[in-house]
Amino acid sequence: QLTADPAFAELCLEPQIAGPGFINLTLRPERLAAELQARLGDPRLGVPKVEMQAPVIVDFSSPNIAKEMHVGHLRSTIIGDALARVLEFRGHPVLRLNHVGDWGTQFGMLITHLKQVAPEALTMADAVDLGDLVAFYRQAKARFDADESFQTTSREEVVKLQGGDPVSLKAWGLLCDQSRREFQKIYDQLGIRLGERGESFYNPYLQAVVDDLRAAGLLVVDAGAGCVFLEGVSGKDGQPLPLIVQKSDGGFNYATTDLAAIRYRFAPGPAGDGASRVIYVTDAGQASHFAGVFQVAQRAGWIPSHCSVEHVPFGLVQGDDGKKLKTRSGDTVRLKDLLDEAVERTEADLRQRLADEQRSEDEAFIQQVATSVGLAAVKYADLSTNRTTNYQFSFDRMLALTGNTAPYLLYAVVRIAGIARKGGDLGAGAVASLTFSEAQEWALVRELLKFDGVIAEVEQELLPNRLCTYLFELSQVFNRFYDQVPVLKAEEPFRSSRLALCRLTTDTLSLGLGLLGIPTLERM
Ligand code: ARG
Repeated sequence: QLTADPAFAELCLEPQIAGPGFINLTLRPERLAAELQARLGDPRLGVPKVEMQAPVIVDFSSPNIAKEMHVGHLRSTIIGDALARVLEFRGHPVLRLNHVGDWGTQFGMLITHLKQVAPEALTMADAVDLGDLVAFYRQAKARFDADESFQTTSREEVVKLQGGDPVSLKAWGLLCDQSRREFQKIYDQLGIRLGERGESFYNPYLQAVVDDLRAAGLLVVDAGAGCVFLEGVSGKDGQPLPLIVQKSDGGFNYATTDLAAIRYRFAPGPAGDGASRVIYVTDAGQASHFAGVFQVAQRAGWIPSHCSVEHVPFGLVQGDDGKKLKTRSGDTVRLKDLLDEAVERTEADLRQRLADEQRSEDEAFIQQVATSVGLAAVKYADLSTNRTTNYQFSFDRMLALTGNTAPYLLYAVVRIAGIARKGGDLGAGAVASLTFSEAQEWALVRELLKFDGVIAEVEQELLPNRLCTYLFELSQVFNRFYDQVPVLKAEEPFRSSRLALCRLTTDTLSLGLGLLGIPTLERM
């Protein structure tokens, strides 16, 4: 029946029986060549563009003010940016939101403590540096946990802040500003764009969230706290678990803020974002928080039926020893140090390689390559593992020139740029006629034609590692082709056809890496 369909005959040669239970289908070479031809003239490389007006929100990075941004936030930043880029490329309007932790109890503690130990920090910009602020925060937390009267004062401070007290607001503003500038340095270094809309933004909407839940008959007051009992989720004792939305002292919490946020994000404008899809990129440890928030929002009717909301969880970043990533002295790793070390190590490797190859390059080249490759390596190492598993951070592995690493992929692009420098005109647009003869060429053709399918998959499943695996396989297939089949020395029409394959390979690698937030280089 299938073979009788003319569309089938156009696509495949006569099917062959290959042993019991197997039928081999062979795609018509002229069809493959025609597909390839179409992509040669298409800057989108066969990826269709959606015509969508409703934005997709990607909530990512989202560090906390007065705390240092840690490797978990780095993962969220890198993964969130890659997902946003893929969605943007598909044509979705994307709202990149940095839901920074800039509200709540932590400010009460910090302000109370600073009033006593470093009051100048509350009235003057940069009176203490961020490192000190982080230390003060730690001290404040310790006091909060140990000392009841400190707890009471801190709570009063939060109430003052949330009530709009000008002195508290000013102090809060200074603290936020200082952290914000530190965060921005990391974003600039990594080439990440995102808009800040912190927890404080939702402060005016918190009471309405609780009121609406009450009006919807979902709110239960349990031991003084406002709760919504979750369906299908029970605790250790078999009792249904509550999502607490208002503490017994009347204060709101992380969940209330996320409920206000979800409500705002799906609500039509102007008092909402009118989003069609909302994606949250955080560590897997927050899975039950989001499951609770999503369920309550759903039951409250805040998620329109044609819209979707997803938590995109990721595992822990571990050191070589499989434990949580720490410095040698046991401290948490500062992101800036980590990125700087990646660049320094890349630079050392590069200098060694230049010496081995007796190549001389100027300083500007060395710095540029080291920075670009070092940061690419950190990003790629993170993106190439399935995000749901824990991931072992290893400079040696991520900087290796072989294996599924950024340097390996970047090197394939450099090789192709080298072909062009050696006089191979990679051309532009479609090619007069494509003629292939070798198995390695067909393997590369088949690989190149998978790109649009992979992008569709990443958009659907939100797994950037799918794209990484594809780009790695493409580089391998290309390297096999280039090592075994002559290109520049081939006769026509093979020469132009092979150069066209080179061009489409480098275009695909550059576009794909670009979607991961990784720029390519001509030489390295
Ligand atoms: N600030 C939080 C943290 O550091 C992450 C926030 C994620 N986004 C959200 N809408 N809850 O863990």
